[in-house]
Amino acid sequence: MSDGALKSGTLTRALEDAMGQMTPVTKLGETVSGRVHDAVLAGGEPTRRVADTLHGTWLGHPLHPVLTDVTIGAWMMGAAFDVMGEVTDDDGIRTAADRLTLIGTLSAGPTAITGLVDYSAAPKPSITSGTLHAGLNYLGVGLYALSLWDRHKGRRSRGLLWSSLALGLASASAWLGGHLVYRHRVGVDHSDRFDGPEEWTPVLDDAELLPGTPRCVSVDGKSVLLYRDGPEIYAVAAVCSHAGAPLEEGEIDGHHVRCPWHDSVFDLRDGSIEHGPATQPQPGFEARVRDGSIEIRLWGP
Ligand code: FES
Repeated sequence: MSDGALKSGTLTRALEDAMGQMTPVTKLGETVSGRVHDAVLAGGEPTRRVADTLHGTWLGHPLHPVLTDVTIGAWMMGAAFDVMGEVTDDDGIRTAADRLTLIGTLSAGPTAITGLVDYSAAPKPSITSGTLHAGLNYLGVGLYALSLWDRHKGRRSRGLLWSSLALGLASASAWLGGHLVYRHRVGVDHSDRFDGPEEWTPVLDDAELLPGTPRCVSVDGKSVLLYRDGPEIYAVAAVCSHAGAPLEEGEIDGHHVRCPWHDSVFDLRDGSIEHGPATQPQPGFEARVRDGSIEIRLWGP
C-alpha cells in the first residue's frame, strides 16, 4: 500500500473519533431517548404493547430496517427516474419520479416512528450515532417535502435540487444506520447460542437455589439463570438478547424477569418475550430436581 493510500477502516475510525467529541449531541440524544422510553413505560400496558409492535417483537426481528427499505428504495428509484426524465424529456417518466418521491416521503413517517422507538431503548454507546442518524433523516424528509412542493408548483429545477440534497443526507444517514448495526450491534441478538444440553444435566445442588433469589450457573461456559418460584424452577439464558444485560440483576415478578437495562420482560417459563425492546426470545430450558440436584435440558424444537 502506498503512503497516500487510505488504510482499511481509517475513514470509519476518523468518523468515530469525531462522533466521540460530539458531547452536546450525545447529551441531547440521551435526554430525548430517555424521555421517550420513560413515556412508553409511564403509559403502562397499552403503550408498551404499541411500542412492542413498533419494535418488531411480533416479527422476531426489528421492524425499522424493513420499513427503511421501502423509504430508501422509493427515493432511490425516484432519483433514477428524475435523471431519466430530464435526459429523455418525458413527462410520463417525470410523473413516475414525482410519485416515487412522494411514496418515499410518506413512508418515512412510519419508518421514523419505528426508529424513534428503537432509539428510545438504544444501548448508550450507540446514542451519538443514533442521534445523528435521526437528525439527518429528519432534515432529509424536510428537504423532500420542499422538493415535492416545488415540483407541485412547477418549479422542477428547484425541486430536483432539494431532492438531490435530501438523497445525499439520506445516504449519509444510511451509512450511520449500518454503523449502528455492524459496529454497535443494535438490533442484533446478543443472547448466547445454546446447542444443548439435550439430555437432563445437573447444574446445581437443589439446596443452593433459595426461593425468590436468582442464581446463575455456567453451562458450556455460558450463563444460565435459575429461579425458584414455589414448586417451580425456571431456567433461561442469562444474557439479554436485546443488548447483553445480565438478567440475574433484573426484577423478577412471578414467572417474569424484567431486564435491568432497557426493561424488556421475558417469561421465565420458556424465555419468550412479554415486552420489548427485545425482538428475539431468550433460549429457555426445562428444569427438574433429581437426587438433590437441579437438572436442566434445552427446550426441544
Ligand atoms: S439489554 Fe436492553 S432490554 Fe435487556
